[in-house]
Amino acid sequence: MRYEERMIDEVQSLNDIVEVISSYIPLKRSGRTFKALCPFHQEKTPSFNVHPEKQIYHCFGCGVGGNVFSFLMKYENLTFPEALRNLAGRVNFALPEPTQRSTEEVSESEGLYEAYRLAQEYYSNNLKHPEKGQAARTYLKKRGFEEDILQEFPLGWATPEWRGLFEFLTRRGVKDTVIYRSGLALRSREGNPYDLFRGRILFPIHNLQGKVIAFGGRGIGDEMPKYLNSSESAIFRKRKELFGLHLAKRFLSREDSKILIVEGYFDFLRVYRSGFPNVAATLGTALTEDHVRVLKRFTHEAVFIYDGDQAGQAASLRGLEVFLEGEMSIKIVVLPQAKDPDSFILDKGPEEFRKLLDTAQDFFDFKWNYLRHRYDPSDSAGLLKISTEFIETLSKIKSSLLLDRYMKKLAKLLGVGEASLRNELVIFQQKIRSRERSIVSQVTSKPLGNEYPEEWTLISLLLEEPSFWEKEGTSLSSEDFKHPRAREVFQILERLTASGKEIGYSQVFNRLEEESVKSFIAAYSLTELTQKDKEKAFSDCLRKLKQRRVEERLEKLRQAIVDAEEGGEKGKVTELLQEYRLLLTQKG
Ligand code: UTP
Ligand code: MN
Repeated sequence: MRYEERMIDEVQSLNDIVEVISSYIPLKRSGRTFKALCPFHQEKTPSFNVHPEKQIYHCFGCGVGGNVFSFLMKYENLTFPEALRNLAGRVNFALPEPTQRSTEEVSESEGLYEAYRLAQEYYSNNLKHPEKGQAARTYLKKRGFEEDILQEFPLGWATPEWRGLFEFLTRRGVKDTVIYRSGLALRSREGNPYDLFRGRILFPIHNLQGKVIAFGGRGIGDEMPKYLNSSESAIFRKRKELFGLHLAKRFLSREDSKILIVEGYFDFLRVYRSGFPNVAATLGTALTEDHVRVLKRFTHEAVFIYDGDQAGQAASLRGLEVFLEGEMSIKIVVLPQAKDPDSFILDKGPEEFRKLLDTAQDFFDFKWNYLRHRYDPSDSAGLLKISTEFIETLSKIKSSLLLDRYMKKLAKLLGVGEASLRNELVIFQQKIRSRERSIVSQVTSKPLGNEYPEEWTLISLLLEEPSFWEKEGTSLSSEDFKHPRAREVFQILERLTASGKEIGYSQVFNRLEEESVKSFIAAYSLTELTQKDKEKAFSDCLRKLKQRRVEERLEKLRQAIVDAEEGGEKGKVTELLQEYRLLLTQKG
């Protein structure tokens, strides 16, 4: 479900970004922009900019940026619809009920949901099937899961057949294109369809609304890889989802319960069924800020229970910094060597697990114990190692009160003066800041812009100067853009024009899903250029794209000429050669 774009534009235009942001943090006028200390990272000099004409914001220090919705989402930890309702409320705008999305978008996601819903039906019937599902049920039983698990948790079974699912979906009327897009089946080099999952027990991955959006599949023999996951799609982004959170969320409340985070699907099942329903699992990936943002909607404390091996410890250390940055409280439970939550509970029982949970260490103690065992604090090299690594973690803390407390604690443990530790922190922050500054100065810093910088410059100029779009927009086509995100923005521009709408940052941002793309464009937009510079940059980039188009066409022609010659089609060769020569002169 979605709100109409017209509505989104309207709410956005009624909420001036300067007014909204200044109701949260004090803004100071500085030339054409307003400045402030960035609320999203710790800093002493303001690098947070709000641009009233463009109605966007951007921080040069930490790289965040976007429009008024992005700000609210990030600051108040809201989803987009929540931010929209909040801003509508601010200006007494009556929002109607959400309507369906624009046609292609709806049909893409809806088609995928339908494919996954049917796949879930198919796979779960397989598992229950007396003969087909037998081997899988035996495997589950051997691991201590009886059939009753299926009522509560509808696991599935992909038989070893090559296209059982593909044929089932086709019979149920799902189009080939949708099946391929879902990643549930692939095409062989000869063009024959085959299922992704074969001979695997399937764990359905649900979104927060409880719809199946992907599967994780465990081989029951010694298949490689041990686990196989659905590929990403329009409805499945690995870095945003946590396995089982749609169930756990019912048991979480802001007041008391914590979310337990485990690494594996079977760990989830075991913990969930042993009387700890407030659990979710990562999908074989690192924890991300998106995870933290989702979790913060339901609870304010997380407890990691990672495997007691080296990899588990390393994952905990990385994860803990993400939580510190996201200002969410985090504790870590250390499992005995070579145990995961599943095997621990199987071995020792739920009561021992509960006791283990009580031994959760806060991030500080965990990090301290970890470092103390790796380096010797009484040795000067060890002392330096520990303090540098610790300070890097502490620098993620945003609250100066908390930071103060932890600095004191660390100084005491290390037996050094607090002042010298503070000094180290300042030096570290300066290093980070100068690294960020040098990144910003290159503009094309973020991973998004490393490729095809000319496309991004062109996009930002089109947004900056509507006259460029009017003049040259139609001479470009979306195929001219190689970067998928740049292409997406270009297509939005085309759609806006087709429906007679204005072109601008806000209109485009309101139609873009990914916040990181907005931040990136916002960063580009704030480089101050004179009109002349803009024109020059625009024609340079345009020329580059067009040249590339010609080169691609030439390459295709060369291939076609070779083919025609081999086929002995003389007339065609002459024709193609003519076009080839003509293009060569255009290339200049
Ligand atoms: P583990 O290797 O710890 O497996 O991976 P596990 O959960 O203990 O599995 P069992 O008990 O042997 O069945 C932890 C998680 O990492 C992801 C899966 O999500 C798995 O549950 N993973 C692991 C993969 O995605 N691919 C792999 O090949 C292995
Ligand atoms: Mn395991």
